[in-house]
Amino acid sequence: MSIHSATAIACPNIAFIKYWGDLDPCLHIPANSSISMNLEGLYTRTQVVFDPALRYDQLTLEGEPVGGIALERVNAMLDRVREMAGIATFAAVDSFSNFPISAGIASSASAFAALSLAATTAAGLKLNEKELSRLARTGSGSACRSIPGGFVEWQAGESDEESYSFSIASPKHWDLVDCIVLVSPAQKPVSSSEGHALALTSILQPTRVTDTDRRLGLCRMAILRRDFASFAEVVELDSNLMHAVMITSTPSLLYWQPATVEVMHAVQSWRSEGLPVCYTIDAGPNVHVLCPGGEAERIAQRLRELPGVLQVLTAYPGGPAYLE
Ligand code: DP6
Repeated sequence: MSIHSATAIACPNIAFIKYWGDLDPCLHIPANSSISMNLEGLYTRTQVVFDPALRYDQLTLEGEPVGGIALERVNAMLDRVREMAGIATFAAVDSFSNFPISAGIASSASAFAALSLAATTAAGLKLNEKELSRLARTGSGSACRSIPGGFVEWQAGESDEESYSFSIASPKHWDLVDCIVLVSPAQKPVSSSEGHALALTSILQPTRVTDTDRRLGLCRMAILRRDFASFAEVVELDSNLMHAVMITSTPSLLYWQPATVEVMHAVQSWRSEGLPVCYTIDAGPNVHVLCPGGEAERIAQRLRELPGVLQVLTAYPGGPAYLE
């Protein structure tokens, strides 16, 4: 094989109904289905070069050579792609994200979505959306939701074939904004991968999982009807349920910082004043504050005035992963 390369771009996504806990941790088959929105303007751009001169896979993140767990996860994904394509060539992977990584904005989602598309293309494969979504999932669960565009549902399934994501509405369907409130730039102390493994140590996890179909139905319906009040109710409930599981796991996972709670209080009090706004929080201290597009500027400004808030980024619904 001569040198073959491809570059792909993917957005991260924010989950409205969360994935927490695995049925199969190796294949990232989740304990429950989830719903998310891609985040426009934030992206990971990844180039993959299969080069016969290489003796092993290489990874560069933000311009720095990287080893350890990150390289192992990339290497495992490349092995899957090599097996599918029937090749043995090693690759150099160069990845850049334009937002703070590992801080509660799912950088592994955009990273593995972009990597799956770039690596399969460079290896000469042409996967459809479903196949790509399944492959991205094996790198990082939430990455399967960054392959399709707009508002996306990940059907949990019970096997590799059944567990993939699809679009439930295009990015243009609803003018919803995620005001991403950064309260800490630090790397999270416990990764999502480690956290998923602890989910079943909480006695609340089975209850959370059993009720997921109801919440999924409410969230899907609220998105399709652009019904912000119903959306806000189920999104905040779902985030609180996931954090209840995290906090009551052994060991306990408390991702919130004082400023996280400050933002949660502010959002609830603005909503009781009549503002259409709600929060959701991933495995980190930063808060995603959601509102209709028309309110975004006003709400982002209010958020910037809260104590402990370092930065507020805003993102509209984003498109699918694509080749450059
Ligand atoms: C809290 O997809 O990052 O953001 O599959 O181990 O890479 P791995 O985990 P990951 O978990 C995401 C957890 C979450 C909720 C969500 O995005 O649904």
